[in-house]
Amino acid sequence: MIAIGCDHGGFELKLAVESYLNLQKVDYVDCGCNGEKVDYPDIAVKVCEKITNGECDKGILLCGTGIGMSMCANKIAGIRAAVCSDTYSAKYTRLHNDANVLCMGGRVVGVGLALEIVHEFLANEFEGGRHVVRLDKMKNLEGK
Ligand code: RB5
Repeated sequence: MIAIGCDHGGFELKLAVESYLNLQKVDYVDCGCNGEKVDYPDIAVKVCEKITNGECDKGILLCGTGIGMSMCANKIAGIRAAVCSDTYSAKYTRLHNDANVLCMGGRVVGVGLALEIVHEFLANEFEGGRHVVRLDKMKNLEGK
């Protein structure tokens, strides 16, 4: 199950991503907004809480740049959020970083590219191996 959310800067892109998820028969829960002006930290928390409480295993956060959402998400223990504007990063942040939240900017990436980024993010699994120790070190940074 995917948790998805946006602010007003990412709303149009969220509609496109949800259409794609519907086509792919990927289940998701929409955490807002519905196009109205909102503060992105409020939406980031809603999406990330779905992951930390176990309801969802991944999240997608969309704002104007993807950056504000990622900054907020990465303050929450257990969240590894990556802003992606290319498919290579989307693939390797899953393989190497075990990212559990994908952030994108609705004012940065076009719909076609964004959907390919979502595909890479959802299609790839964490490689484990040598990356486990690095993730453990990352986890140890939480709260510092
Ligand atoms: C909203 O105008 C904009 O600041 C927001 O969508 C996002 O880009 C912040 O990082």
